[in-house]
Amino acid sequence: MEPLRFGIVGCGVISGTHGAALQRLQDEGLATLIAAADGDKGRAEKFTAKYGGVACGSLEELLDRSDVDAVTLCTPSGLHGRMAVQAAKAGKHVLSEKPLDVWIDAVDEAIAATRAAGVVYGGIFQERFTQDAQKLKRAVDSGAFGEIVLACAETKWYRSQKYYDTGSWRGTWELDAGVFSNQGIHSLDKVQWLAGEVVEVISATLRPGFHRGIEGETLGVATVRYASGALGTLTMTTLSYDGFPERVDIAGTRGSGMLVGDHLAHFKTTDPFEPESAAADSDTAAEGAEGVDTTEKSKDPGAVGTEGHLSNIRDFVLAVRENREPLVSATEARRAVNLLNLIYKAAKVGPYA
Ligand SMILES: NC(=O)c1ccc[n+]([C@@H]2O[C@H](COP(=O)([O-])OP(=O)(O)OC[C@H]3O[C@@H](n4cnc5c(N)ncnc54)[C@H](O)[C@@H]3O)[C@@H](O)[C@H]2O)c1
Repeated sequence: MEPLRFGIVGCGVISGTHGAALQRLQDEGLATLIAAADGDKGRAEKFTAKYGGVACGSLEELLDRSDVDAVTLCTPSGLHGRMAVQAAKAGKHVLSEKPLDVWIDAVDEAIAATRAAGVVYGGIFQERFTQDAQKLKRAVDSGAFGEIVLACAETKWYRSQKYYDTGSWRGTWELDAGVFSNQGIHSLDKVQWLAGEVVEVISATLRPGFHRGIEGETLGVATVRYASGALGTLTMTTLSYDGFPERVDIAGTRGSGMLVGDHLAHFKTTDPFEPESAAADSDTAAEGAEGVDTTEKSKDPGAVGTEGHLSNIRDFVLAVRENREPLVSATEARRAVNLLNLIYKAAKVGPYA
């Protein structure tokens, strides 16, 4: 089968991770990079000089190309929904960086448009693909933890004012919002992936613009109830110098696990869980060392690494080939945005003020 032909829109910080992952997928014969677009065409030119493809000055120019099968959205978060609609109308498959959008209505419009167009729509949540996250997921899904009673997440990172000043979209309600929507969205995804959907935000207190000159929140605590009846706390800030590794912990009646960064810092079950070799056999887990310490993400926005994205994008390509939903389908990735909006509503911030 022919490689899936990609176009990327948005040639900023995260685009390099996609460029590097696509080069690896090109070596595997699965994908090829055809073009990259940015409103600032110089950025697209710089990107294509490094990773290949043709530089375009707009999404429209990219979508006009008949040799592009799939578009990856690496633009500011609050543009993702409307760009997914545009791409779907042009008949392109859509892979969106996290989050699918900041606002749930935009996500729902994009899901409707991609369904109507019959194209595949997936998201990036690369932290699901690490070996330890996959092991935790298997433990929960197999019942090895018994009943999950508590599922908590903490993203206590550090982002300076200088970071927020690197883009006029950063920290605005329209295009980014705050720590829950940007840095913490991975945790909002992972806790629900592991413990099921949050159906109620019991309380949420957020501090928009606290210690930083932005509109969105830089600090917040929420308490939540999952569909199963389990409870949880979600604690997030970008003010904690100079960043703790993020943490997700799942407590069950027969076992519990704690992910610190991408690694299991705690894993206990009443009965023996699968042998060590099972993690290595998992075909969805990101493999090998990636040469980037992803725990540095807590203080360095660029410390993302390639391996998680590689697994995530590879699965998207195979989903298109096999005419199935990707593992991080839009429906799956929507849950983080839904929870985000429930939290903003409960805290009465942004458009819910
Ligand atoms: N998966 C991860 O771990 C991860 C890490 C970092 C960023 N991200 C996500 O990637 C997205 C981009 O973040 P970033 O840090 O790379 O931002 P960035 O500001 O560095 O890059 C965004 C790029 O989009 C371009 N752009 C803006 N509006 C455009 C438009 N209308 N048409 C074409 N190009 C346009 C800008 O010129 C810029 O080059 C965000 O949604 C963010 O949440 C994900």
